[in-house]
Amino acid sequence: MIISIEAAQRLDSRGKPTVQVWVTTGKGTFRSLVPSGASKGAYEALELRDGDASVYQSNGVLKAVRNVNEILAPAIIARKFDIGKDLANIDALMRELDGTTDKSNLGANAILGISMACARAGAAEQNVPLYEFLRQQSRSHKPYIMPVPFFNVLNGGVHSGNLMAFQEFMIAPVGATSLTHAVQMGSEVYQTLKAVIKSTFDGAATGVGDEGGFAPPISKPHEALDLLVTAIEKCGYTGLVKIGVDPASSEFFNSGIYDLGFKHPPSTSSDTKLFATQLSQLYRELIAKYPIVLLEDPFAEDDWTAWSEFNETCKVELVGDDLLATNIDRIKTAEEKKACNSLLLKVNQIGTITEAIEAAEMAFSLGWSVFVSHRSGETTDDFIADLTVALGTGHLKSGSPCRGERVAKYNRLMDIEAELDAQGQRHLYAGTNFGQTHAL
Ligand code: PGA
Ligand code: ZN
Repeated sequence: MIISIEAAQRLDSRGKPTVQVWVTTGKGTFRSLVPSGASKGAYEALELRDGDASVYQSNGVLKAVRNVNEILAPAIIARKFDIGKDLANIDALMRELDGTTDKSNLGANAILGISMACARAGAAEQNVPLYEFLRQQSRSHKPYIMPVPFFNVLNGGVHSGNLMAFQEFMIAPVGATSLTHAVQMGSEVYQTLKAVIKSTFDGAATGVGDEGGFAPPISKPHEALDLLVTAIEKCGYTGLVKIGVDPASSEFFNSGIYDLGFKHPPSTSSDTKLFATQLSQLYRELIAKYPIVLLEDPFAEDDWTAWSEFNETCKVELVGDDLLATNIDRIKTAEEKKACNSLLLKVNQIGTITEAIEAAEMAFSLGWSVFVSHRSGETTDDFIADLTVALGTGHLKSGSPCRGERVAKYNRLMDIEAELDAQGQRHLYAGTNFGQTHAL
């Protein structure tokens, strides 16, 4: 039984306010912290902000906190839910109390905070780890699958101050023997990349962006990819560490044009402005030249034609982030239009754990991949590590192997792997099968 639910305003990794929730049951107190995006999709559930310009530049979340303390908490407690069994019912009640499709009444940040903390309380009630509790909420089967971590080691787009339009360049140790080995390989490439950047530019170029990746003074995708290939090669990991790219292109799309110079000063030339067909050509060239295995949001969230045409001949995992917004209706449309083959799963895009699990299951049922993701504004909450193992998604991204809020997830995954080893529980490292785990 739930004894109390309380929320308070705390800070995220960008130093902006976010919601913290505590759920207390007979088994103890269970906490969650809600993440927040910068390159948000237009179809995401609403993150409620106070909008009072005199406090935290309008970013306060005290309304969401009040909605937890004064509306959601009393209603949930009054229903005397069985916390070990009723996560789906608690999530359904919160949706009903909100009454909107995008949770804009009470705020997805308020609702998600409760959903995450209730999942933790539910796991404690059942005396199982969170990853096992979440696995039981889904239809995922054993053995457990440990994911390939996609480390975002070069930051651009709205996550950094350099001129690089593409937002994320990730390294994926698919050739590792375990998750723990993958973390080691990722960290080694990251540190080597730092040395490469230092010798190519100067010391100041090793400052990091929002997700802990470097943000050197480069602006062209091939410059970033050359840096990655050099660092991978220097570590002796050629062929074992692959690359993922998230241009987050909705951020530089306007009136039918993709402007790779969107962060350049206004007077610079127009040769950075591309039509979707030209951008597609650029992606094809990059995929042919570099060991790219995954491409996320190559086109804007409403540019369905570009997505569908590209997907027809695309040889890599094509992930919909802003395109799908972890939303079942958007996933259905994408399937009809044959727009992509992978779902990016961000719990705060939809606002409850139950709906996030449903979205993953829908994607798997279509034969797609599922790629779990953090947000650029994160916290030290490591919930998504357990969710990734629970759903057997085979890969996740949580930024670079640097900065506390990023490594919290990788550290938790290493804890889970060690725990499974110690208990002699069978588990696999997804490796090169990171995109086909539903078939394993
Ligand atoms: P966001 O970026 O958290 O700032 O939205 C992450 C992404 O685009 O994948
Ligand atoms: Zn993205």
